[in-house]
Amino acid sequence: MKIYVPRDAAARGLGADDVAAAILSETAKRGLTVDLVRNGSRGMVWLEPLVEVVTDAGRLAFGPMTPADVPALFDDLAKHPKALGLTDALPWMAKQTRLTFARVGVIDPLSLSDYEAHGGLTGLRRALTMDSAAIVTEVTDSGLRGRGGAGFPTGIKWKTVAEAKADQKYIVCNADEGDSGTFADRMLMEGDPFTLIEGMAIAGIGTGATKGYVYTRSEYPDAIEVMTAAVEIARQSGVLGTSVLGSGKAFDMEIRTGAGAYVCGEETSLLNSLEGKRGIVRAKPPLPALQGFMGKPTVVNNVISLATVPVIFEKGAAHYKDFGLGRSRGTIPLQIAGNVKFGGLFEVAFGLTLGEIVDEIGGGTATGRPVKAVQVGGPLGAYFPRALFDTPFGYEEFGAKEGLIGHAGLVIFDDSADMLKQARFAMEFCAIESCGKCTPCRIGAVRGVETVDRIAKGDTGAIPLLTDLCNTMKSGSLCALGGFTPYPVMSALTHFPDDFTPAMKEAAE
Ligand code: NAI
Ligand code: SF4
Repeated sequence: MKIYVPRDAAARGLGADDVAAAILSETAKRGLTVDLVRNGSRGMVWLEPLVEVVTDAGRLAFGPMTPADVPALFDDLAKHPKALGLTDALPWMAKQTRLTFARVGVIDPLSLSDYEAHGGLTGLRRALTMDSAAIVTEVTDSGLRGRGGAGFPTGIKWKTVAEAKADQKYIVCNADEGDSGTFADRMLMEGDPFTLIEGMAIAGIGTGATKGYVYTRSEYPDAIEVMTAAVEIARQSGVLGTSVLGSGKAFDMEIRTGAGAYVCGEETSLLNSLEGKRGIVRAKPPLPALQGFMGKPTVVNNVISLATVPVIFEKGAAHYKDFGLGRSRGTIPLQIAGNVKFGGLFEVAFGLTLGEIVDEIGGGTATGRPVKAVQVGGPLGAYFPRALFDTPFGYEEFGAKEGLIGHAGLVIFDDSADMLKQARFAMEFCAIESCGKCTPCRIGAVRGVETVDRIAKGDTGAIPLLTDLCNTMKSGSLCALGGFTPYPVMSALTHFPDDFTPAMKEAAE
């Protein structure tokens, strides 16, 4: 009997370890042998711990499971009170296009043979038959853009590094996933670590970089453990090392852990931290692609960008590019969080409207109250009101509405949310997380908190001052932290003006 119980941090947080222990003790009691696989999460967080039992018909899902639900797994499966049916047939799974996350939750994360049996290493093997220019062209042709948030074309970044002349180049994976409501990087690293390793190896072979680093956060102990073990397995199996899969081309990598500063997700700050320095932003230029880690040409890509590379090489650039909308090609792993009925990871081609994501996939709020706002793109993302729910999910489409998709995290709020408090939170967050290098952010954010407080006390004359301050921060900050904090503030002010005018607020109450 083969049973899957996720070892994903979210599932563990909801009791997956206790469920796994209960399965082992129940099978021992019944004298049964069980092949218990600790897989990644399928992304349906409201059903975790989600247990899957392998049957002739396919994998049957049960959830959310508790240890008390375990004994019934060994009776009539169809009559189990937590039986959900075939996992792949569940609407949440059936509606997705899983390219980057195809193996997450499906395979044993630390089994290289399971990985290969599900298409793993096919992309790397193909890349090893191509020269650097062809590898870079394949990535460019796929239309892949940086999934960390900025959406810069990955192929152009790789081309810059590939064409730079240097004795040493690096691949740095940005796994410092700091946006509120995001967890795609973590889920990928915990559920399918070899995909990231394979993507980094292809990036290295394509650009001439022989060394890679995954920079992740101390808040991700499970991801660190899985990634570290996977790198060791890959090294021992010849996927990493002086001759990648016997090609004679070298690529090796290490996992590094940051100390938990949000700004270390900004690429130059990250590079400073990786070099053992204080995580402070560097002015650009020079671009990291030319002078990055240790002053050498460096590809800095997000986990999801790199983990998407293997499927592009496995299925071809044209296959990947076929999905999507406008200049947003391929798929995007949406992370749906906050006050929502069905929260989790949902990978789909770009182009669904915000309303479809929130109402149809997310199922509305968990409280059952009307949705008031959705913050898209982390703490620096704009708040979208229902009036903008027809916005299709794409880089340009969100930009046109004064928003950003960022790392594709969506945090949903019901009508009890006070948007003035949310605007204050944005300024407060910026003040706390500011690296302090530039004035508009370091001082502006503190003044921003004070200005919002003045408005809260009824000083509506401070509203133009807040707008002015936001414009200064937007145009004068050195990096996205100070430069993008105005997005949540201004969107809250623009779309929810009643929350900023106490007289109107009191009348409404
Ligand atoms: P950016 O627009 O300055 O740069 C984008 C990327 O393209 C960088 O890696 C840059 O070095 C590279 N680049 C630009 N021109 C290039 C060229 N000619 N050749 C090669 N490479 C080139 O954006 P930035 O500041 O790196 O990122 C801002 C974004 O980060 C925001 O959109 C925000 O959504 C996102 N973000 C993501 C977070 C997360 O947790 N994933 C947290 C905070 C912000
Ligand atoms: Fe540092 Fe803020 Fe300036 Fe970015 S905007 S460089 S975080 S002070």
